[in-house]
Amino acid sequence: MRNCRLVVLLSGRGSNLGALLKDSTRPGAGYQVVAAIADRPAAGLELARGQGVPALLLDRSGFADRAGFESALATQIEAQAPDWIVLAGFMRVLSTEFVRRFADRLLNIHPSLLPAYPGLHTHARALADGISVHGASVHLVIPQLDAGPVLAQVRLLIQSGDTADSLAARLLPREHALLCACLRVLSAGWVKVQSGAFSIGTQPLDQVLVLDEDNQLVDAAGRILLRL
Ligand code: GRF
Repeated sequence: MRNCRLVVLLSGRGSNLGALLKDSTRPGAGYQVVAAIADRPAAGLELARGQGVPALLLDRSGFADRAGFESALATQIEAQAPDWIVLAGFMRVLSTEFVRRFADRLLNIHPSLLPAYPGLHTHARALADGISVHGASVHLVIPQLDAGPVLAQVRLLIQSGDTADSLAARLLPREHALLCACLRVLSAGWVKVQSGAFSIGTQPLDQVLVLDEDNQLVDAAGRILLRL
């Protein structure tokens, strides 16, 4: 079976891109990163270059408007014929038109247990609310911000004394594992996406998958879909 093709969009550090690049070289990953594209000068692009993966800076500040930027971005993405387009720290809200063009192929990783805390500053907001469990989600991108169907989540207990920074630092490696696990089950075809919804076999995915502490991706019935 051929590897699924991933284009990763990012705006900064690119640690999630780094995790995908690393995981994609492991046996059985089932996917490869075929290009990384940033909307501003981003350290993460070097990670792709370091592995011989094409890395493109499409600087938003060089375009007169969003439509021009998105048109160039769409052209670059389509040139790669990707199966999945992964937003990994891509700090731009995409237009409805753009999202529709790549419907069912756009995934995002978000540092909260959606639908809680869409948008920015998720760790600080979680701490301010005094909640005890935080986490991250991988979801389909729809025109509304951080609101698309969630495929899988990873949970993280908040500890006394946690700060936004300590929480972010503990969550990050769990995000990496979550994102890689999601790309693996999608690339293997164990989870499918159609008309804006996930399914497993003939069953709609009506409860999110969970990545547990042993890096197993488990469904609501406790079945293990994958072990990283
Ligand atoms: C991650 O926390 C991700 O969940 C969020 O932005 C951050 C990107 O980090 N969307 P990195 O650039 O992948 O290191």
